[in-house]
Amino acid sequence: MNPFKKFLKQKIKNKNKLLVVAHRGAAGYAPENTMAAFYKAKELKSDYIELDIQLTKDGQIVVIHDEKVDRTTNGIGEVKNFTYSELEKLDAGEWFHQKFKGEKVPTLKQVLLDFYGKIGILIEIKHPSIYPGIEQKLTKLIKEVIGEELEETQIIVQSFDFELLQRLNKISPSIPLGLLVKYRVHGISKAQLKDWTSVVKYINPNKSLITKKLVKKVHSYHVKVIPYTVKDKKTIKGLVNAGVDGIVTDYPDYVVEFNE
Ligand code: G3P
Ligand code: CA
Repeated sequence: MNPFKKFLKQKIKNKNKLLVVAHRGAAGYAPENTMAAFYKAKELKSDYIELDIQLTKDGQIVVIHDEKVDRTTNGIGEVKNFTYSELEKLDAGEWFHQKFKGEKVPTLKQVLLDFYGKIGILIEIKHPSIYPGIEQKLTKLIKEVIGEELEETQIIVQSFDFELLQRLNKISPSIPLGLLVKYRVHGISKAQLKDWTSVVKYINPNKSLITKKLVKKVHSYHVKVIPYTVKDKKTIKGLVNAGVDGIVTDYPDYVVEFNE
């Protein structure tokens, strides 16, 4: 097993260290969901990169957060209306800073080829209702790039949509799954937790939902808790006191520092 894979496998078992998850890459330092952001995350010693996927008009899985390209590229329109050859002509870096001019919207395949086995990859399926069948495409791509030898700590797939995760679990039970929970929920019931944890290995709530009691409850199902999205050092302390297993952050160096 390569040294990084071994390292991540051991780190996941280590209850005293936080998993460092770089949100959309290191989105505080580089344009989100670009290769530059993922390389920055690696440079900062993150354990995982988090990224968002959608489908182009010609069925390519691409890495971009919003339904529209407007905020993070120099183009206008919905991702689903672009072919990949149209999408890759857009600039996905200059909006963040001039020095990132030339960054492109990556395909998930490019990211897997560059990063699998070198950093963990947390894939969020965005807007699944717009992209029927995205889960089949994703599992096919993972198999195509990685083969049957998927080391289960290296890739996690997450979504806010539990039904999608149930479908994914049926298609490919070896891929670890995470359920995202929005801040608008009012409490998480025992029945929900029982249902969810029969399918997922991670419950990843908005940071504002985290309490010691909730983390303890989730842990009693042997499931990890990795809240999102931290942008300051103060919040890390509160989450650590509550017992979380990792933190999704725009500034992975803050969490790395905390681990030291
Ligand atoms: O990892 C969870 C987080 O990425 C969910 O929120 O909107 O940044 O995709 P969002
Ligand atoms: Ca995300």
